[in-house]
Amino acid sequence: MGWYNAANDLTFFKSLPKVELHRHLEGSVRVRTLKEIALEHNVPLPPQTGQLRPLVQIQSGDPLTSGNFLSKFQPLRQFYRSPEVITRVAREAVEDAVSDGIQYLELRFTPVALGRSQNFPLDSVMDWVIESTQEASRKYGITTRLIASVNRHESPELAKEVAGLAADRIDKGIVGLDMAGDEVKFPAQPFAGIFREAKQAGLFITLHAGEWSGAENVREAVEDLHADRIGHGVRVMDDPDVVAMVRERNIPFEVCITSNYQSGVVSTLEEHPFMNMLKAGLNVTLNTDDPEISGIILSDEYYMVCSVLKLSREALKDRIVAAAGAAFLPAAERRELVNSLRDTLLDIF
Ligand code: ADE
Ligand code: ZN
Repeated sequence: MGWYNAANDLTFFKSLPKVELHRHLEGSVRVRTLKEIALEHNVPLPPQTGQLRPLVQIQSGDPLTSGNFLSKFQPLRQFYRSPEVITRVAREAVEDAVSDGIQYLELRFTPVALGRSQNFPLDSVMDWVIESTQEASRKYGITTRLIASVNRHESPELAKEVAGLAADRIDKGIVGLDMAGDEVKFPAQPFAGIFREAKQAGLFITLHAGEWSGAENVREAVEDLHADRIGHGVRVMDDPDVVAMVRERNIPFEVCITSNYQSGVVSTLEEHPFMNMLKAGLNVTLNTDDPEISGIILSDEYYMVCSVLKLSREALKDRIVAAAGAAFLPAAERRELVNSLRDTLLDIF
């Protein structure tokens, strides 16, 4: 796996206790599961089921653009046919995180994407995802928290509904609100009031910003939409003033390097600004974004950042602890997570 070397040895990286802060449920659905759902529910597929994979996963000949990347989510929407399907994909996302050694998972999901094709009520969709992920998490001993995600390219009215339903479910494990989607064509401002209210209601805020558009979007996310963390944010490096502002506020960045390469943010993995962000004193963390769409696991990302970007293993350990320190948890629980990870990692290094 991974986009740099098909035959790497992941043993060490798999053995590390990991933290994932930026992973979309809809980008985590196993292709094998999609094939089974297609058979069971008669989802219309291209003539050979073998052709499903290129529809939902980046292939080596694909154009490396944001449009192509986002296009992979569209066919997925017709697979969410029943509560059982949604329950299953949510459970499997937790299982896949567990088998990669993730100990703390923040899984974000887009209720509108999951509910649309069957017109499921959004509150039911959210409850199915909550129940399924919490049950699987108890079973496997992983801590999972959920983030409700809304798309910039969909209506603020829908986003308002999702934000309200998420705030009602903070005690059940929805701890954050995220904005994803097409950053190039759709501004964040129409959502500002919704995010302000969500924060007042007790949700943490993260926004995809400075991924496909510039550093100004990172400033806007922090200053106008009250983001506690930034999804991607790599374009922040274009503007030293914004770099200074986010460093001053110690805003964590959820960096997803392979995703950035596949969606055309950088033209090669080597050119990714992760190391420059780190050198600039930014609080960077490592994440997958959409593991199944990208064909990666988090261990691949850890391996790649060490082998391609030459992050030392010691510095990788610090990034894992930094991710724990950026968790959307109450302060005491966050401290506990940081301490327990630090202890486990000290035994390994
Ligand atoms: N939705 C899923 N992955 C995304 C990404 N990388 N950027 C914006 N929206 C997304
Ligand atoms: Zn994302």
